[in-house]
Amino acid sequence: MERYEKLLHDNGQGHILKYLENANPDKKAELINQIEKIDFKQLNELFKSSNRKIEEAQEGVIIEHVPFIDKYKMDKSQYQDLEELGENIIRSGKYAAVTMAGGQGTRLGHDGPKGTFLLNVKPEPKYLFQIIAEGLERANKKYNVTIPWYIMTSTENNDRTVEFMKEHNYFGYSEKDIMFFKQGNLPILSEQGKLLIDECGNIKLAADGNGCIYKSMKIDGVIDDMKKRGIEWVFIGAVDNALLNMVDPILLGLTINDINEIGAKSVVKVNPHERVGVFCKKDSKPAVIEYTEIPEEMAEETDEDGELLFGESHIMCNLYSISAIEKIANQKLPYHTAHKKAAYINENGELIKPEKPNAYKYEAFIFDGFRYFDEISILRGRREEDFAPIKNSEGVDSPESATKLYNDYWEKNANGRM
Ligand code: UTP
Repeated sequence: MERYEKLLHDNGQGHILKYLENANPDKKAELINQIEKIDFKQLNELFKSSNRKIEEAQEGVIIEHVPFIDKYKMDKSQYQDLEELGENIIRSGKYAAVTMAGGQGTRLGHDGPKGTFLLNVKPEPKYLFQIIAEGLERANKKYNVTIPWYIMTSTENNDRTVEFMKEHNYFGYSEKDIMFFKQGNLPILSEQGKLLIDECGNIKLAADGNGCIYKSMKIDGVIDDMKKRGIEWVFIGAVDNALLNMVDPILLGLTINDINEIGAKSVVKVNPHERVGVFCKKDSKPAVIEYTEIPEEMAEETDEDGELLFGESHIMCNLYSISAIEKIANQKLPYHTAHKKAAYINENGELIKPEKPNAYKYEAFIFDGFRYFDEISILRGRREEDFAPIKNSEGVDSPESATKLYNDYWEKNANGRM
């Protein structure tokens, strides 16, 4: 028996042999290569945990409030001290920015990488990548530096992303200071734990979640590149926030002043039941608790000032020392299961497009990296300044809501960011 046959046989994936029989020699060789690369031990463990209830995972975990500082409630001298601390680091070229752009953007439904989405803002429409580039350019001008910009793509969207940026001349960003790197993949499994075959006759894979960014930064040489450039602090943000501020000296100053290795910007929840993850401590380590995991009474709990105890939303504005990134990159982050719709080719060669979720996708989450530290500095910003997410095609967190937030902000701050 060939190695790939044994692998398939031993791991309950014998149905793939049928696809191999029907494939032409090139495709067959490609498929065999893909099969031999699969970590079946890991995949089998992931499948076993697919149906694990959230309550089971949370059993015995102690959830506590984590303190934060409000950017606009600190006294002036503290603000200025933190600003100076942060600005010194940025000015001296020790600060880098990373954009996570490997997601599939399924809810938005845009044909292409999310960063290539054109937002109909004033005075003229802008692509999401363009908005990020402009934000960094503003900081570059202010601090007289060029902040290196790293963009994480996926196997699925890398080529289109790179071509798009090239076509648009990197929106004026210096080409030598932009680097693309690719995140990894994991096979998608059917509800019976079977590998699926995609429209091109390959094993169906999906990006392994934004939490894999740390590992990808190590494998793809991003950490090494940063070290060569003398980078000490790294901001990681999402591609889909039209008000994302990647260069906030107060967040940087606060984290340095607290002698912490990680920091994050938050905005307060709109109401206790908003569907966002919030900062907390799980078993005394910094963490984010998802809205699906937080008990109702905990979500509504307030302190003596009436502030929600679990009200600081994780908006994917995270800051790390370079050694923190390295530390997380050497850990194995847990995978979370998503039950998704996944089109596939059945054994008769027909394309099946399911109407309801039919498969499991496994993803690591960026905030699971926080658990390797004792403390995190959290800076509460303002929604109208920091957070205009584009998740859905309409309604809440849509291009329409983000456009309004963007226009309102830039109307008020025509002279630049605070
Ligand atoms: P989301 O988790 O909101 O996913 O990503 P998404 O892909 O944009 O949208 P849906 O869920 O399919 O509708 C938050 C951020 O994390 C990035 C996204 O590109 C976005 O910036 N991300 C997500 C990755 O870089 N890789 C992933 O595997 C997943």
